[in-house]
Amino acid sequence: MNVSNLIKETNKQIEQKKKDFAEDIFKGLTQSPKRISSKYFYDDIGSELFQKITTHPDYYPTKTEYEILQDMKDKLPNSLSKDKIDIIELGVGDGHKTNLIIQGFLDANTNVNFYPIDISSKAMTLLEGSIPKHKNLNIHGIVSEYLDGLNYLKNQSENQKIVLFLGSNIGNFNQIESISFLNTLRNQLNINDYALIGFDLKKDTSILNKAYNDSSGYTELFNINLLNRINVELDGNFDLSKFQHYGFYNPILGAMESYLLSKEKQQVQINKISSTISFDYLEPIHLEYSFKFLPSDISYLSKNSGYNVVKNFTDSKNYFTDSLWKAV
Ligand SMILES: C[S@@+](CC[C@H](N)C(=O)[O-])C[C@H]1O[C@@H](n2cnc3c(N)ncnc32)[C@H](O)[C@@H]1O
Repeated sequence: MNVSNLIKETNKQIEQKKKDFAEDIFKGLTQSPKRISSKYFYDDIGSELFQKITTHPDYYPTKTEYEILQDMKDKLPNSLSKDKIDIIELGVGDGHKTNLIIQGFLDANTNVNFYPIDISSKAMTLLEGSIPKHKNLNIHGIVSEYLDGLNYLKNQSENQKIVLFLGSNIGNFNQIESISFLNTLRNQLNINDYALIGFDLKKDTSILNKAYNDSSGYTELFNINLLNRINVELDGNFDLSKFQHYGFYNPILGAMESYLLSKEKQQVQINKISSTISFDYLEPIHLEYSFKFLPSDISYLSKNSGYNVVKNFTDSKNYFTDSLWKAV
């Protein structure tokens, strides 16, 4: 097995990333309501905390999707290329679910090129622990934003492709953003290429609320770590004990929403953006949407972005669907 990092970041790119982070934090914390993009959760500490969330008994999505992929992994190679396949994954995380799909193809004697794309370099380290070496498997990691990575791959990948977008990462986008994202993805694919997309389904709100407010407090730590990241990378002085996590299901949006609330009226200094940010009592910072889906939403999204649904794979409790789409 050959593991390589296709995009080696230059010092200029690393500097640009730092600049983008500073600019986004300045913009996000000086607007009303305040907000920070969820893509900034995943520094090294955030990626490790997310791994802890995924194994917590209160957090159903990861284990449910694992159950689905375990059931379907041997069926995929029958629909796709028997000889060679390029598997591209957007936001791979630790890759332990992806390993099931990869093993399904390897068991069918298919040669696999795996291109994991993730904004977090920590993800690339974590997935080395999840995916065993195999003579028919090459891994080419790409540390980048989803679309930059896809764009880079446009001229690299010549075999039939399947793009994985697991874990209901799609739920971070609203419907308009999803259609635009899926269309952009479609434009990178050929007819005969596939996408496998994980959708977290609408369900009893008590199950949703429990999953996003786990009893060990990992979700709270994960969210508050963003303030720690600002302290470390932008020389801020957030007192982490003065913020609390607040996550709830918003039935009007059909989404879980995550906020940090300021426990008191306070001011925070962030030196590298030359700013003093004022917070009122209980003032929120919006961090994340996690939209939930009905089966009809899945067909609507596929139809409006250039795919046919080949099959929906769902778990025994109807909590989650991995939907296999073919580019048309
Ligand atoms: C919720 S985790 C899901 C990980 C994995 N797909 C799973 O199902 O367990 C989201 C992953 O996507 C990555 N990610 C988030 N936003 C991203 C972006 N805009 N571009 C690339 N990767 C991103 C994060 O670093 C993280 O590893």
